[in-house]
Amino acid sequence: MSATPSYSYEELQRRRTRQASVLLTPDIYDWYEQMMASHDLYYDETRASWLLFRYEDVMRVLQDTRTFSSQRTTNPDGSVDPIASGGILGMDPPRHRQLRSLISMAFTPRAIAQLEPRIRAIVNDLLDHVGDEDGMDAINDLAFPLPIIVIAELLGVPASDREQFRQWSSDFVGTDYALRLATSKKIAAYFQALVEQRRRQPGEDLVSELIRAEIDGERLPAPDILGTCLLLLIAGHETTTGLIGNAIVCLDEHAEAKQELLAHPELLPSAIEEVLRYRAVVHTIPRIVAVDTMLCGQEIKAGNLLLPLFAAANLDSRQFPDPGTFDIRRDPNRHLGFGYGIHFCLGAPLARLETRIALSALLERFPNFHRRHAGQLELRPSSFIYGLKQLPIVFESV
Ligand code: HEM
Repeated sequence: MSATPSYSYEELQRRRTRQASVLLTPDIYDWYEQMMASHDLYYDETRASWLLFRYEDVMRVLQDTRTFSSQRTTNPDGSVDPIASGGILGMDPPRHRQLRSLISMAFTPRAIAQLEPRIRAIVNDLLDHVGDEDGMDAINDLAFPLPIIVIAELLGVPASDREQFRQWSSDFVGTDYALRLATSKKIAAYFQALVEQRRRQPGEDLVSELIRAEIDGERLPAPDILGTCLLLLIAGHETTTGLIGNAIVCLDEHAEAKQELLAHPELLPSAIEEVLRYRAVVHTIPRIVAVDTMLCGQEIKAGNLLLPLFAAANLDSRQFPDPGTFDIRRDPNRHLGFGYGIHFCLGAPLARLETRIALSALLERFPNFHRRHAGQLELRPSSFIYGLKQLPIVFESV
């Protein structure tokens, strides 16, 4: 059976452009609730994609990688461009397995735990720069800079280039597909130069490790190294920013949960899992239907785009009792905030660690933080990441 979907290049670009032009909006959660009341699967004309809502169905799709491919065909000749398609995120087995096992060596829980002192120092430094009286913009002053500093240090990118990285990662997750492709080329050119430099002068950073790494005795091809750097930069940045911001909003909106957390700081890891369920950052990552298949009693043709909605599945009452309640003690909490199966987020230990350190420092230093303005929150423009543009908070007592 071929895993190559039968869509034309033009058709896929057209569909993806339409899909990317649909923004996530703050009322998306009301919409999920309405839709889930009457649909398990729904063909969305504006996104030119099938939307899948239920936990069990989303799990089935994430586990059946032969039928539901992650492989994005991005070149007109039908070949896969490992840079534009997002490294392992856009690969199927067996290539996915080989490359993932290699990259995951850098992301073992032990390797990540060693970063704790450095992450703590970065967080303290960021919080030292905010004034007691003025409060802060929790996105621009904390949630945005923290992950970019960490990932840039892991990759061995000079600190002076961080501003450039911020811009690139914003442009990349936005909704302008042409800008995304153009940005991926710029990032690739940047990493190309960095890789060449590290070939001459290897260091202890991740880029040098990827250059040294081998699969079956062969060095990694340059496009795979570049695709991995691009993926880590993008996947490791806007997502973690989003999680920290969403967590602050959840605690602001649920005063009793915040008080409980202040009294029992040991609940922080479980509170973070609940944020990942209740206000997921990554709402979906597309799959391409590789062979004609039946889903929820509906025939779906090869070549169609399918969006397994992690964020909606997290609200499925068949899996989560009382799904609309933000419960920082929820147990079990098998949410899909980091996906599931072979593509389960490789950076989950890092994202959890950064978020835990950022929130625990914030709660310790400014226990009375609260949002400066009530009312509508503005999201960063994206079709798949649910994260805030700004989040002004103040520290005075309420
Ligand atoms: C994959 C979410 C942070 C690296 C994924 C997937 C999700 C996700 C849902 C699965 C995609 C799919 O099934 O197609 C998140 C969230 C994060 C986060 C919510 C922060 C709160 C990070 C960080 C890194 C990272 C910090 C690395 C520095 C990756 C990689 C993959 C991935 C490499 C692809 C794994 C594969 O295809 O095998 N992430 N992520 N992520 N994530 Fe994350």
